[in-house]
Amino acid sequence: MPEDVSPQILKKAQELRSTLHRHNYRYYVLDDPEISDAEYDRLMQELMRLEGKYPQLRQPDSPTVRVGAPPLEKFDSVAHSIPMLSLDNGFSDEDILEFDRRVRRNIGEPNNISYTAEPKMDGVAVELIYENGKLVTAATRGDGQTGEVITDNVKTIQAVPLVMQTGFAPPTPPLCEIRGEVFIGLEAFQRLNQERIGQDLPPFANPRNAAAGSLRQLDSKITATRPLEVFFYGVGLVEGAAFQTHGELLAVLKRWGFRINPLIRSGISIKAALDYYRELSEKRHQLAYDIDGVVIKVDRIALQQQLGATSRSPRWAIAYKFKAIQETTTIEAIEVQVGRTGVLTPVAHLRPINVGGVRVSRATLHNQDEVEKKDVRIGDHVLVQRAGDVIPEIVKVIASKRDGSETVFKMPAKCPVCDSKVIRMEGESATRCINSSCSAQVKERIKHFASKSAFDIDGLGKKLVDRLVDKKLLSSFADIFALDESLLSGLERMGAKSAANLIGAIEKAKTIDLSRFLYALGIRHVGEHVAALLADHFKALEPLMNCSPKELEAVDGVGPIAAASITQYFEQRRNRHIIDQLLTSGVKWETAALKQTGKLDGRIFVLTGKLEEFTRSRAKSLIEAAGGSVSGSVSRKTDYVVAGDAPGSKLTKAKELGVKVIDEAELKGLLA
Ligand code: IVH
Repeated sequence: MPEDVSPQILKKAQELRSTLHRHNYRYYVLDDPEISDAEYDRLMQELMRLEGKYPQLRQPDSPTVRVGAPPLEKFDSVAHSIPMLSLDNGFSDEDILEFDRRVRRNIGEPNNISYTAEPKMDGVAVELIYENGKLVTAATRGDGQTGEVITDNVKTIQAVPLVMQTGFAPPTPPLCEIRGEVFIGLEAFQRLNQERIGQDLPPFANPRNAAAGSLRQLDSKITATRPLEVFFYGVGLVEGAAFQTHGELLAVLKRWGFRINPLIRSGISIKAALDYYRELSEKRHQLAYDIDGVVIKVDRIALQQQLGATSRSPRWAIAYKFKAIQETTTIEAIEVQVGRTGVLTPVAHLRPINVGGVRVSRATLHNQDEVEKKDVRIGDHVLVQRAGDVIPEIVKVIASKRDGSETVFKMPAKCPVCDSKVIRMEGESATRCINSSCSAQVKERIKHFASKSAFDIDGLGKKLVDRLVDKKLLSSFADIFALDESLLSGLERMGAKSAANLIGAIEKAKTIDLSRFLYALGIRHVGEHVAALLADHFKALEPLMNCSPKELEAVDGVGPIAAASITQYFEQRRNRHIIDQLLTSGVKWETAALKQTGKLDGRIFVLTGKLEEFTRSRAKSLIEAAGGSVSGSVSRKTDYVVAGDAPGSKLTKAKELGVKVIDEAELKGLLA
């Protein structure tokens, strides 16, 4: 029998729920958090503890449901009250001007029409149904008439309000259907794919597929592990609220708690919409997510209704698509690259081609299975796309263009770099070079070690690592810390100043937190996430090095494969020696002590400009380790803006808002 719940506990749970909802809103929708992540986690833990102890407190709209629900047998389907239509596409300014003329002709309006222009998100459309402010159903678009019910999955997305914000005008309507696009950001997509490759799972072809696959999981606990995000852009049926313009609708949605893309521009002319398209075409490669065009919508809702829709698409909106990012070219050769863990990856050398404004001359083919599945041959004409807008990939072969001169690719029997034997383990898709001293592996391991998320050694870039390994100046991690300034400055294309800077950066990197250190070692199946879990659990290296797979599996988030790989790593004398060498070279960490002090509990920092001694990522981890948080933008809630050399607009904003500005020395003082 569950224990009885006292009125105080009931009240406490209710308070925690509404506090967490409010903080979610501030964080995801307003991008203006009031508390640190650590404080948020504490509130969440407290609610989870209460709901664990008194299961009768659990509610479908509790912020704790983000972790996922029991698996489904299959998805239910639901009819959309208003069909979820498609958009007509335009590909040139003329298409858009023609759309504007058509709009004016249809409504008999010779004068300027006001429009809203929005990024066209390249994700998956969803509809969320709220009854009396509570999320009751979420569905996919499906065939436009009927969608699949994916409520449990959608609830795991942090930016989805489980209850609408109250206290803002207009009041929460009894029924409203909110529509938007679920997507995965580019960085998170890369990380997700790296993790999958590390687990011998096939990578997703692009962020949209990853988002779609994640939303269509029968087990919402899997969806909960995926970095899904959402922007909302419209409504279906709404009862009890009306809007004059689309711009006003978006403003109200934002007040109700829905995340709206800040790049949206309302109340603009068709000419300004064309300018917006050009601006975004240039900016799109700097965005953190994929967009494939601009959606232009008639602003006035009354005009939208007057214009109506065809069976396929509304007459009041059009998608102005960016130039195609798929192109055809030919494969000139297939080269085999050797990675950090010895995995051989076939890479296609393409006849260089411009894909959406970027020159593409290579595309990964992943592994032998992938080559066979796509039946890619040397000499083939292929369709290439920039997936996730960054890594180019081969979509398919254009078989009709073959003339018989194409040659089939076979994985080599020996490592193309060191000539050692290669093996392919049963059940694995990867072929590996077994020689861990293979110079290709050494180079990649060192690049990983020096990379941003690991030791973050400024100036030790990929090309330099290649040169230093080729010149036998580097063959192990510890060699980095023994690099000699005069020797470096004697290298070609490396002046005295760069050499001194590099030595400075190496010295600075010696102090590191445990999780980055573990990640830097490059243990198989230990990505950034697992490394952070291990550091958090074990707090120090010693106990981790000596624990059993069972103890490792007891760490929430560490599975049997990672556990086995970690123990195997530390069992090897060679690896223990590597760690000894690093510690002897002066590598040390300090954040465990800071963590306990919680000196900066709840303090929000913003970093701007170049810091002298700390790298940004290191300043961030030190602040976080001391209980503070680092935000990307300055608001009234910011406690400190840390200004380095050549600070940007954040400093101006801080001064405007009267936020305390400190320099690096003062930050060090706070952390000391
Ligand atoms: S409005 C009646 N706005 O594009 C059409 N759609 O091709 C309502 N999309 O299924 C759609 N960003 O998934 C609209 N800012 C945006 C959008 C957007 C992406 C997607 C949406 C829709 C598809 C239509």
